[in-house]
Amino acid sequence: MRTPIIAGNWKMNKTPAEAVAFVNAIKDNLAPYTAVERVVCPPYVALPGVADALKGTEIAVGAQDVHWEEDGAFTSQIAPAMLEGLVKYVIIGHSETRAYQGVSDEMVNKKVKAALAHGLHPIIACGESLEINEAGGTRSFVEKQIRAAFADIPASDLANIVVAYEPIWAIGTGKSASAELANEIIGSIRVILEDIYGADVANAMRIQYGGSVKPANMVEYMSQPHIDGALVGGASLKEDAFVDLVRLANEAKGLS
Ligand code: 13P
Repeated sequence: MRTPIIAGNWKMNKTPAEAVAFVNAIKDNLAPYTAVERVVCPPYVALPGVADALKGTEIAVGAQDVHWEEDGAFTSQIAPAMLEGLVKYVIIGHSETRAYQGVSDEMVNKKVKAALAHGLHPIIACGESLEINEAGGTRSFVEKQIRAAFADIPASDLANIVVAYEPIWAIGTGKSASAELANEIIGSIRVILEDIYGADVANAMRIQYGGSVKPANMVEYMSQPHIDGALVGGASLKEDAFVDLVRLANEAKGLS
């Protein structure tokens, strides 16, 4: 059975002080939901404070991106070694980094390899634009992203990788994909992974949905067989909403 994973992607929100206050306020409330993996992904500058505040809890910390080089003249970038020991997860290939920082499929693959080499667990994000969706190109677009992201990644690394399907038109728009559609696309991602790695590995992979997830629609997503949790933006910034999301995920999968 796949352990559901609910990750809050805070994007460019919360100062370091606000971030620490936030996790201090929610950590006890999240503690009972042990069957769901709980992750927060604050901005880089808040990572040390948040990691420190969450020490001794089961809540994991993630970064929002990572560079593939070890070090060097890459102004503004963060190398994988800088995140070692600080975070468990790192989001790679989020559509906002693809759109605003020119992150390509090839770069996603390099980042995934670099992250794994440093013991970090990638959350690989994929998803199509509205234009592609309306033209009926979702499956082939996502397939290209997934095959590129996993190029030359050995099956032995797959247990340390999570995929997040986040249709761009559903991000921050309030216009979420229907649970059936999200399940269908996530199921098709599993078929691609099965083609590359075989059924056992593909069936063990955790694949999240992301895009306007909130407490009101959480149960619908979690009731779908292929959806193993959510990568949440806006709703993860609110204490009550994030705790509710985790609680609902716990309940929906029939966990205590
Ligand atoms: P929203 O939940 O705000 O739509 O953002 C989704 C997202 O991009 C998470 O990575």
